[in-house]
Amino acid sequence: MNQSPFFYPRLPEIDIDAQGELLLAGHPAHELVARHGSPLVVILEDALRRNCRAWMHPPESGLRYRMYYASKALLTSGLAALMHSEGLGIDVVSMGEMATALAGGVPPEMILMHGNAKDRSELQYALEHRVGRIVIDNLEEITRLAELAREAGIRQKVFVRVTPGVRPSTHRYVQTGQQDSKFGFNLEGGLAEQAVQQVLRCPELELVGLHCHIGSQVLESEPFVAAAGRMLEFYAHVQGELGAPLDELNLGGGIGIRYRDRDAAMDPVLHMSQLYAFVTQWCEDNNVTVPLICDEPGRSIIGETGVTLYTVQSTKQIENIRNYASVDGGMTDNPRFALYEARHPVAPARRMYDAPDQLWSVSGKCCETGDMLIHDVEMCELHAGDLMAFFSTGAYTWSMASNYNRVARPAVLLLAAEREGLLARRETTEDLLRLDCIPDWLTA
Ligand code: LLP
Repeated sequence: MNQSPFFYPRLPEIDIDAQGELLLAGHPAHELVARHGSPLVVILEDALRRNCRAWMHPPESGLRYRMYYASKALLTSGLAALMHSEGLGIDVVSMGEMATALAGGVPPEMILMHGNAKDRSELQYALEHRVGRIVIDNLEEITRLAELAREAGIRQKVFVRVTPGVRPSTHRYVQTGQQDSKFGFNLEGGLAEQAVQQVLRCPELELVGLHCHIGSQVLESEPFVAAAGRMLEFYAHVQGELGAPLDELNLGGGIGIRYRDRDAAMDPVLHMSQLYAFVTQWCEDNNVTVPLICDEPGRSIIGETGVTLYTVQSTKQIENIRNYASVDGGMTDNPRFALYEARHPVAPARRMYDAPDQLWSVSGKCCETGDMLIHDVEMCELHAGDLMAFFSTGAYTWSMASNYNRVARPAVLLLAAEREGLLARRETTEDLLRLDCIPDWLTA
């Protein structure tokens, strides 16, 4: 029985011992930090594999489908290897992500490449390594890719990214499916149709499917269904009227997780089953062969499986104003509060049962007022040396980390009850200096 007043993901791998200490896969939080240092990003392996399997085997779907892990959420070579071991492909958006997936042993045909500003070298790299699919995002890219494929003597499988004109309710920085978006070809106004026709005129490009992504951290089903409906109509049109032998429809991930107690719970498995049922029914009603359905979830696979542990270094209590606890990390390892005012569940990792009778704000170590991890959370009184746990930090924290103030990025630990191994080691001062050059006239 768990009586902690704190909200956090209820995973079997997250528990609290009798003394009130957080246990991650059975390991006391302070022991993890003693072994690997602080701050520390922990990824719970069993939870992660469970999520992969849920996505890979949706119940009673009977559909042909392919899953790509959206690696922008978190990627290291080891993580790519784990995703591959679970049967997922990898969605990449840069040469760096592509190289990391390849280094993790992901077969190139299971890599799907995105990007609204892919340059020639990235496209060349993708072609040379024979990545499975390239998602074309703009008109310039059609010409650029066709030319490079011709030079390389390759016929490349491509998707066309369609902007379906759907705006889900999520932070405006992570909405992507609305008319006013930098991504893809808008359906409305005919740009998507124009793009498809142009691709069909390029013998070097083989149009295999259509793609859309409406946004991230979406906690409602309706916009996904609305987007799927519009995509299916266009898919049927491209197949029928434009005569393209399409077979794949990529619905783009974007399902949210519960960061707050009051967030709606969206069960990805249930959501997928409903969405797939909608697709099947639509195809039956419209006499269209059901496409191979692709999805590219990121956050819903890895988000809740991550926990970041920090150590409080100092506190400042300003009467009637605010209590600050400053930790040994911050916006450099998790910029989500600074960027979107995103709130992660947080708790004092060794006092999980203590009554939250004060408001505390957790600040980072950078010389910037905006370097906050969270404002005004009810907790017990905090002191230097306290361990803080930020939950649901698997997605879009370490992957968006920076070296602002030349702060080193924390280690990422893959953790299970019986084994643990680093996915990324902690950066050293040497790492931080490795790109520096000193022009010779400065040392003379
Ligand atoms: N596919 C495409 C084309 C995407 O742009 C994204 C996310 C995904 C898939 C995966 O979406 P997910 O299932 O993870 O929601 N940094 C922001 C999130 C940016 C998401 C960008 N695109 C954050 O911290 O919330």
